[in-house]
Amino acid sequence: MDPDLSPDGKCRRTGDLSGIEIRLLIEAIYLRYGYDFRDYACASLNRRVRNFMIKSGYKQISRIIPDILRDENLFDEFVNHICVSVTEMFRDPSVYREVREEVIPFLASFPRLNIWHAGCATGEEVYSFAILLDEEGLYERTNIYATDMDPRSVEIAEQGIYPVEAVQQGTDNYKKSGGKASFSDYYHARYGKVILPSRLKQNITFSTHNLVTDTVFNRMHLIVCRNVLIYFNKQLQDRVLELLSRSLVHNGILVLGTKERLDFSSVSGEFEPVAPKLRIYRKTGLNGS
Ligand SMILES: C[S@@+](CC[C@H](N)C(=O)[O-])C[C@H]1O[C@@H](n2cnc3c(N)ncnc32)[C@H](O)[C@@H]1O
Repeated sequence: MDPDLSPDGKCRRTGDLSGIEIRLLIEAIYLRYGYDFRDYACASLNRRVRNFMIKSGYKQISRIIPDILRDENLFDEFVNHICVSVTEMFRDPSVYREVREEVIPFLASFPRLNIWHAGCATGEEVYSFAILLDEEGLYERTNIYATDMDPRSVEIAEQGIYPVEAVQQGTDNYKKSGGKASFSDYYHARYGKVILPSRLKQNITFSTHNLVTDTVFNRMHLIVCRNVLIYFNKQLQDRVLELLSRSLVHNGILVLGTKERLDFSSVSGEFEPVAPKLRIYRKTGLNGS
């Protein structure tokens, strides 16, 4: 068993003062704001809380509690800090190549499509898929729902304006992903920023959604939830995978991050692999559909 976990799977080591303080902080936040970090993976949660302390000038974790209970701005900063919003355009290009070759023909068989990006961070992944769908002639018939727990990330995603450096990595990834045009066709640069065209945004709905405390998004043909489950402990991963499974249509496709798995989970029997190494699955089971 993980030495940082108590028997109920919670983040704690008996007698470890800072472990107790973190648990009290997380409990206080849950009671006050309804944001539930209680089943986040210990190691990364501890790291993020410590970074937040350094950035905000706190010397003890317990000193954060009275302040955060009363100061909503401090809470917003905390959430923004705890949410690791690292992402990039066409991240893991081989996943996009596989989607293009193996998933697009399936999606093309539907007259209307629903796609959900759960944990979209600042939106680079959503726009990358929008470009892919556009090149494959499916964008016009697609409703894309892009959600994240962190309101600040959702705001950036909705704007679709990024630092020019984002394009360098994006251009390289786009080529490797099997992109059919020139990446520069999809943005214009101004004052050190790149701006994505509004036609790429017209079918995307951005909103906040918390995978731990909010409900299912129904009738999705494709769910992309990459590099989110890694921040959860196994119990929470299982709960969220169940929610994602219930949100998919029969034969719907689930794309996880390349370090994430579902073979341990209670819904693994409902899925068959499309590209197991790239963590792309098809929902074949009827449970929850
Ligand atoms: C590393 S980013 C992944 C971004 C993108 N999917 C990718 O792979 O490039 C993880 C995102 O998960 C979001 N997240 C963490 N916990 C969440 C939750 N309970 N509900 C929804 N989003 C969550 C964070 O806010 C963050 O934006």
